[in-house]
Amino acid sequence: MVEFSLPANSVLKTGKIYKAAAAVNIRVFEVYRWNPDSGENPRVDSYEIDMDHCGPMVLDAILKIKNEIDSSLSFRRSCREGVCGSCAMNINGKNTLACIKAISDYKGVIRIFPLPHLEVVKDLVADMSHFFAQYAAIRPWLTSDSQAAVDSEQLQTIAERDRLDGLYECILCACCSTACPSYWWNSDKYLGPAILLQAYRWLADSRDTDDRHRLEQLDDSFRLYRCHTIMNCTDTCPKGLNPAQAIAEIKKLLISR
Ligand code: SF4
Ligand code: SF4
Ligand code: FES
Repeated sequence: MVEFSLPANSVLKTGKIYKAAAAVNIRVFEVYRWNPDSGENPRVDSYEIDMDHCGPMVLDAILKIKNEIDSSLSFRRSCREGVCGSCAMNINGKNTLACIKAISDYKGVIRIFPLPHLEVVKDLVADMSHFFAQYAAIRPWLTSDSQAAVDSEQLQTIAERDRLDGLYECILCACCSTACPSYWWNSDKYLGPAILLQAYRWLADSRDTDDRHRLEQLDDSFRLYRCHTIMNCTDTCPKGLNPAQAIAEIKKLLISR
């Protein structure tokens, strides 16, 4: 397992410290802060939160900071139930979704950083444009050369539908790709685990007839074969999916062509 190379306290300057008013049930959250407009270096701000007046999830604490302590904090969130993928961030060294991660799962200070190895837009907001451009490149939609696909409902057997389990649940949060050392160093050319799992989702779909083109596009020493089975992706996926397995399935399809 490769550990994340997060900046240590000695590298990132400690910024503002926000103390809670008299409270007995306090947790401390250290949060990465960077505003490109300020011209200042990144820092880590420290916030004391009264847990008797805070929801149970890490996202609840972040929202409390934003709403009650420091409205300048930037982050993404939408569904608050692990469906949209927008609250992906690095919490105590592991990429996950802040909305489905309980504060009580952590001991001591909780350190929150943006997803690693992506450019930071501001604070906890990472730039996802390259990631989504890679997603668009795999043509993530059903392609069929059958007229029936246009004219009628496309039925699947139970077995055919079962093949999509473990694939369709991916919410494109990028926790896996930004935990992958191969993606850290080669994301300009390597598609990374999230996009490859999505690519396999269409290869595994009995209604899609474009396998030949899809596989030709993936058969590349960088796009696919930069995966070295390090397994960080599967270890970190907050939805319990197995991108490494999906990548292995693509390689098997390429061998059996
Ligand atoms: S198994 Fe492949 S995709 Fe997953 S972390 Fe390792 S190198 Fe990256
Ligand atoms: S495979 Fe998991 S970690 Fe990767 S993008 Fe999909 S849901 Fe997120
Ligand atoms: S807010 Fe949607 S996954 Fe967390």
